[in-house]
Amino acid sequence: MADTNQSIHSEWSSRFAFILAATGSAVGLGNIWKFPYITGENGGGAFVIIYLICVAAIGIPIMIAETMMGRRGRQSPINTLKVLTKEAGANTNWHYLGWLGVIAGFFILSYYSVIAGWSMAYVVKAFTGSFSGQSALEINNLFADLQASPGVQIFWHTVFMVATMAVVARGVQGGLEKAVRFLMPGLFILLMLLVAYAMTTGAYLQGLEFMFKPDFSEITGASVLTAMGHAFFTLSLGMGAIMVYGSYLPKGISIAKTTILIAGADTLVALLAGIAIFPIVFANGLEVGSGPGLIFQTLPIAFGNMTGGWLFGLLFFVLLVFAALSSAISLIEPAVAWCVEHYDIERKKACVVMGFLTWLLGLGTVFSFNNWSDVTFFGATIFESLDFLTANLMLPLGGFFIALFAGRVMLSKDSKEELDLGDDRLFDLWKFLVSYVAPAAVFIVFLHVLGVFS
Ligand code: PHE
Repeated sequence: MADTNQSIHSEWSSRFAFILAATGSAVGLGNIWKFPYITGENGGGAFVIIYLICVAAIGIPIMIAETMMGRRGRQSPINTLKVLTKEAGANTNWHYLGWLGVIAGFFILSYYSVIAGWSMAYVVKAFTGSFSGQSALEINNLFADLQASPGVQIFWHTVFMVATMAVVARGVQGGLEKAVRFLMPGLFILLMLLVAYAMTTGAYLQGLEFMFKPDFSEITGASVLTAMGHAFFTLSLGMGAIMVYGSYLPKGISIAKTTILIAGADTLVALLAGIAIFPIVFANGLEVGSGPGLIFQTLPIAFGNMTGGWLFGLLFFVLLVFAALSSAISLIEPAVAWCVEHYDIERKKACVVMGFLTWLLGLGTVFSFNNWSDVTFFGATIFESLDFLTANLMLPLGGFFIALFAGRVMLSKDSKEELDLGDDRLFDLWKFLVSYVAPAAVFIVFLHVLGVFS
């Protein structure tokens, strides 16, 4: 398969299509839902700086590595690793790295879909005018009601999973590509509008100060781990999503430039979301560390109080659902692509099976907000455990090995050829970052959390 240099799953139609799809994967709930609430929980500015450093020093080099490996292997991450280990004459156990990614993607999607379901429920709330003229307290109650109701959450979780699997079943070009074309510009415009609203709240500067004025006394080992884990999560790294998208990338496209563009767009969206949300938090006397409900407790206040808020609120949540959808499809694509290759079954069948399993696991997250809120592992609910296990452990661990593989196992001549950077110094810089800097950074943060330095 590898020597034909063509993917059996078909290819992106152009560089632009790949940019759209990979940006669609990167930009999602991670930017708009997760980044603000973890920034709030971890004290603001200093956390944001650590996150930005992780994106630049660890995220971008690994993103380049993943895309490059995918394009060279041309198959699902598991089989791509098999192809590449053969090419490098390395130990075949490396393909278990692909498995780690498939499992991480499956775990993440199980709770991602529940949160995307909340966003769908908010599309309906926006449409029926539920936010109009409501106080912060009433908006808070709307969210509390949703969290308390497993039935409503299961309903929307089901709708979201069906939508995701329907898109994935249609395959790379039919489904994935079309879904992302109008999303990014739309989301960007609405975020700018929310930022404009935030400027009118009277707490704009306070919000900016919270996000950008670092107070390192707020930082613990756990918050450094969260910042690093989030750099992986938000760029869709460490589990093969970007690798599988890279495997559909035609030859002759500059991987490095494209990657930097995507990471930049992703970071911009997250920062804009924070800039829009924190002023609303402060202006209404809300709690910055209130957790996963943060955007659902703040943004509706803005929509309920601005002119045209009904329409903008509706559009915003619709776009958020699409942003989540374009990420969700990439979370399950490595698993589906592998099923298709391994069992030689139809894409549709693979989708039904994988979709059902993910849906089932998602129920754990739904109930962790109500009936099972007291079921905990080391003090964390099912949702919190899945989030910690995937974003803070599995993705950085996956990224660690991907970096080592690209930097130290693949032969330089192969990675150089695939990256085609033109300038040898750039190649050496990248190779140094993936061989040493990124793995060492992940390792040190892990040690730190284990308390080795304390
Ligand atoms: N990057 C996506 C987001 O920010 C989530 C994601 C993680 C998607 C890992 C694919 C792989 O929402």
